[in-house]
Amino acid sequence: MCGIVGYSGPKEPLPILINGLSRLEYRGYDSAGIAISDGNKITVEKKEGKLDVLKNHLKDSNIKGNIGIGHTRWATHGVPNDVNAHPHSDNSEEFAIIHNGIIENYAEIKKDLLEEGFEFKSDTDTEVVAVELSRKWNGQLLETVTDVAKTLEGTYALVVTTTKEEGTIVAGRLMSPLVLGVGENEVFLASDSAAILEHTNKMIFLENGDFVEIKNGQYKLFDSELNEIEREIQEIDWEVSEAEKLGYDHFMYKEILEQSEVIERTISGRLETTSKEIPIKQDEASKYEKIWIVACGTAYHAGLFGKDLFEKVLGVPVSVELASEFRYREPIVGKNDLGIVISQSGETMDTIAATELLKENGAHVLALVNVVGSSLARMADSVFYLHVGPEIGVASTKAYLGMLVAQLLLAKHWDSQNKLDVSFDEIAELPKLIEETMDCEKQIKDISEKIYKKNDIYFIGRGLDYALAAEGALKLKEISYLHAEALAAGELKHGTLALIEDGTPIIVTASQNHLLDKTTSNVQEVIARGAYVIAIGDNQSEKLENISDEYVTLPDSNEILTTVISIIPLQFIAYHVANLNGESIDQPRNLAKSVTVE
Ligand code: M6R
Repeated sequence: MCGIVGYSGPKEPLPILINGLSRLEYRGYDSAGIAISDGNKITVEKKEGKLDVLKNHLKDSNIKGNIGIGHTRWATHGVPNDVNAHPHSDNSEEFAIIHNGIIENYAEIKKDLLEEGFEFKSDTDTEVVAVELSRKWNGQLLETVTDVAKTLEGTYALVVTTTKEEGTIVAGRLMSPLVLGVGENEVFLASDSAAILEHTNKMIFLENGDFVEIKNGQYKLFDSELNEIEREIQEIDWEVSEAEKLGYDHFMYKEILEQSEVIERTISGRLETTSKEIPIKQDEASKYEKIWIVACGTAYHAGLFGKDLFEKVLGVPVSVELASEFRYREPIVGKNDLGIVISQSGETMDTIAATELLKENGAHVLALVNVVGSSLARMADSVFYLHVGPEIGVASTKAYLGMLVAQLLLAKHWDSQNKLDVSFDEIAELPKLIEETMDCEKQIKDISEKIYKKNDIYFIGRGLDYALAAEGALKLKEISYLHAEALAAGELKHGTLALIEDGTPIIVTASQNHLLDKTTSNVQEVIARGAYVIAIGDNQSEKLENISDEYVTLPDSNEILTTVISIIPLQFIAYHVANLNGESIDQPRNLAKSVTVE
């Protein structure tokens, strides 16, 4: 939520900032702004709306300077407009500040400042920090920022510059991500590494409580007591092109299509029984008494898939928890438990808080994350990276598939009694299978034409197919704004069946043969109420195929792999329905990719 970029070095900052912001726009897109300092004055430009509005506004401008900061916003305090857009300044416009996070005690600080005669233009929590910096100014930017930071409650990645200390940027973080990119005599700041990867692949992931002082393209790191500290520079091996659209209309579409290639990386080096890539070995996994899978949104749906697998191979109870709920109850977590936290970004606030809770209770935490060096990756005791490359579309696609495959790999490695009916050789075929599944797109496009004007669409499935249905419904609603709901197929008759009427689209995932007859009976029940049935399954589901209005046949494969690839037609349905409705796809309204607020 909110994207931050900063630059100090010999180049002109403006194009670097705009380019960085375009790569961060997925984190928020209701306004954008930049501040550039030439040493004497800070020029601030900001505009409500997507980055294009700001770009257009700046197209003939020639703002020069030696340092710059930029921001793309997802509003928390104050409606999206020019005034509430970042950067924010103090009353004398000597400080410019950008912020990702929430300052929870901003109202108290603001009250004090108002009583002392300071004025405010915006409704944001961030402006309070800018004004407070001017009140507390002690002649040194780093000291002033750390002083003020000590009084702030909440979360932040803050980046500050001032005319009072020429050529300096000071930044710090608490819970919100901040990455320092290290180049030749130049330094970059960003909310994630993909935003600055075209300039350098050498990154320092700031820890909570870290501050950085940047002058003339050089940096020094400090803790909050101003002791100089060192952090490891990590080299990121993502390709710049992975974070680009490469001629596709939407990142989401590109990310759906590249799934075969990225899953090749997820499984690479992890298929041998002796693979060193598996973070927890079978003998250790079998000692845990309980597993907690904790995640949000799409990652939570991936966890529903993992639950059945881990219960089957380890014979221990697995509880799948929404991180936003888990953190506020008192779950009975023991020190012999394993927590599996799942996250694409590794920065989701609720999942981070849930991880803290697991750790406080003595559980071993394994993080399944995509973003290398992210907060969750650093907090966890063990990490298993998804390796699917940067995911830019707000609607998660390839990361979800990576989460399914990562869990399948772990379950397979932990399966000492061969309970999972799939071999490593069969898993090795997954990229090919995914590629073949892409052939369903044409059929899905035609189906989408028939349903895109409907208001309510239901997804049903049993067992693992229900986990997939839940993700299919989320995908559809978040980018098409249609009402979509997923149900365990057997639950329909306990209430929701009342909503099924003539023509209501029902999308059925039916990949598991032992549940096929039961699912088919549930489909009969909705057909009897006039539903329009779109079923997805393999070529052994003749009965279901015969009664469905549309049947999407998945390529022949092992049953559990059929479940995994069932997500592809569901992703295409969401994409094509949203596209036919003319929605923006990569930047759905009200959402942001990385949810770093509660
Ligand atoms: O980065 P995370 O995987 O932790 O994000 C969790 C959710 O916010 C995320 O999966 C969200 O539901 C998806 N963008 C939906 O497509």
